Amino acid sequence: MIENRKEDHIRIAENEQVNASHNFWDDITLIHRAIPEVDYDKIKTEVNFYGHSIDYPILISSMTGGTELAKKINENLAGAAEKFRIPMGLGSMRAAAEKKELADTYSIINNFKIPFKLANIGAPQLIGQDKAPMDRNKIDYLMELIDAKFLIIHFNFLQEMIQPEGDRNAMGVMQKVRELCASYPVIAKETGTGFSRKDIDLLADAGVKAIDVGGLGGTTFAAIEYYRAERQGVGEKAVAGKTFWNWGIPSPISLKLIDGRVPSIGSGGLRNGLDLARAIGMGASMGGFARTLLKDADKSQDQVEKNISSIIRELKIAMFMTGSGDLKELGHAEKFIHGELKNWSDYYDGGL
Ligand SMILES: Cc1cc2nc3c(=O)[nH]c(=O)nc-3n(C[C@H](O)[C@H](O)[C@H](O)COP(=O)(O)O)c2cc1C
Repeated sequence: MIENRKEDHIRIAENEQVNASHNFWDDITLIHRAIPEVDYDKIKTEVNFYGHSIDYPILISSMTGGTELAKKINENLAGAAEKFRIPMGLGSMRAAAEKKELADTYSIINNFKIPFKLANIGAPQLIGQDKAPMDRNKIDYLMELIDAKFLIIHFNFLQEMIQPEGDRNAMGVMQKVRELCASYPVIAKETGTGFSRKDIDLLADAGVKAIDVGGLGGTTFAAIEYYRAERQGVGEKAVAGKTFWNWGIPSPISLKLIDGRVPSIGSGGLRNGLDLARAIGMGASMGGFARTLLKDADKSQDQVEKNISSIIRELKIAMFMTGSGDLKELGHAEKFIHGELKNWSDYYDGGL
């Protein structure tokens, strides 16, 4: 069942239109500098994230594990992570905790020298659903399995609502997150619907190390689960998937709301290096790419590397053309917020 679900997610994400109707990164224009006063070849893109140095502000976002197809995808992504010296997250690791024989579909990434790796579990699994909650023994096992430096707890409650077999209980999740923050370096992550100001307050107070916004604008799980529900003949869930297709907080808005309280990862809808530059411009320490890398990861490591190379090149062009010699300067580059994003920013306390 889990295996089928994971394969469904990959195939649907590869072959169907599963993006939100509007990509909010398009509503950020970085202001052009005709006189950049920067040497392109000396642009600095390195980041130090909690003592881990990486060459580019790029996170390969959590996507998969648990099947042979997932193993191949993880291997191709990990090879590219080693080459570019960038971090990598894995998809939800619950399958490995439940079935030890699936462990290697995740731990395959240990064959590569990756600056740091991120384990991944779901917030709904921290509390009892139809199965027992994820306990610390299992979390320890998952962290050790890939020598993870951070534990991502992903929030995907909209997906659970649309998913034919979804978890329905969210009571007590924050208490569990608070407890885990006392023992693990936790990163809270959304999966395409973003975090509101109230959520961000709760997470920052709980002591998360960072927030990966996973906001609205790119892949939406309402869409992915819409296709699954339709195929499984669960009509009412499919209808809800369509209705909630564009539900959520735009990625750049979540970034702005974090406002430097904790380090942030800009993700949800990043398509290229310009989007990445926009995310850094909104205060992110790095940008997370998921679906943009998926098809290439299904093909070969070489394809992933080509994609990441162009992302890097575009990032550096955006840095050059905004007169930014390093990422800190890019963070302060002049920008113009317009369109729907402007409406959102006006809603939150009169503008960005
Ligand atoms: C096939 C697929 C599987 C995913 N599985 C997970 C997962 O297991 N855990 C998680 O935290 N996020 C998962 N995500 C969400 C991504 O990490 C990301 O937050 C989301 O896709 C939005 O980013 P994007 O617009 O760059 O795709 C998955 C995404 C895709 C496309």
